[in-house]
Amino acid sequence: MASVNLIAPSILSCDFSRIGEEIKSVEKAGADWIHVDVMDGQFVDNITLGPPVVASLKKVASLPLDVHLMIVNPEKYVESFIKAGADILTIHVEATQNVGSTLNRIRELGAKPGITLRPQTDIQAIEPYLKLVDLALVMTVNPGFGGQSFMPEQVDKVNYLARWAKVHNPQLFIEVDGGINTETAKTCRQAGANVFVAGNFVFKNKDYGSAINSLRG
Ligand code: DX5
Ligand code: ZN
Repeated sequence: MASVNLIAPSILSCDFSRIGEEIKSVEKAGADWIHVDVMDGQFVDNITLGPPVVASLKKVASLPLDVHLMIVNPEKYVESFIKAGADILTIHVEATQNVGSTLNRIRELGAKPGITLRPQTDIQAIEPYLKLVDLALVMTVNPGFGGQSFMPEQVDKVNYLARWAKVHNPQLFIEVDGGINTETAKTCRQAGANVFVAGNFVFKNKDYGSAINSLRG
């Protein structure tokens, strides 16, 4: 397991009219990565942003961009997102027939590959791909929107990944995303998570620094 707990504020919940300033603010407040949610209106019922916006974020961000693709056929777009500046690029196992080749392509193009799954999907679906990735993301809400409630039954997946990582890849980033606050982050950390995405909890708090620190435990 990676030893440090990393905090990745999700810009989905920030003030989009001031997105550059919001990124600077969470960077000053001690964030480790910037989490960017990409939605296409097909894989999920919401539409957010594409490669040109990621390229703009890259100009203002000093921290790594952790890009979470909630799009169908991600293989068509991984090159554009990496050229735009994605440092970590995570795809959904349900989104393509070509999971392994897409993950390998992400690595060849110079980014860190990540794999994730919907809450309804069994953890076994991603097991064949764990050796190909640097990051495994456990969705603790249904992907699509910020501000939803944490699904506690998903913590079993974190336990599974922590056991897997201990044997096969102690450096694996085990990330959780959805409904993360001080209490749910603690539950996930105790299960072995080491990267914590938080949208509402950080951006709806007046003090980004204390919100971020409280997630570290
Ligand atoms: C949901 C996104 C999350 C979302 C989390 O589909 O993947 O990254 O921004 O938001 P909160 O922390 O508010 O649940
Ligand atoms: Zn996300």
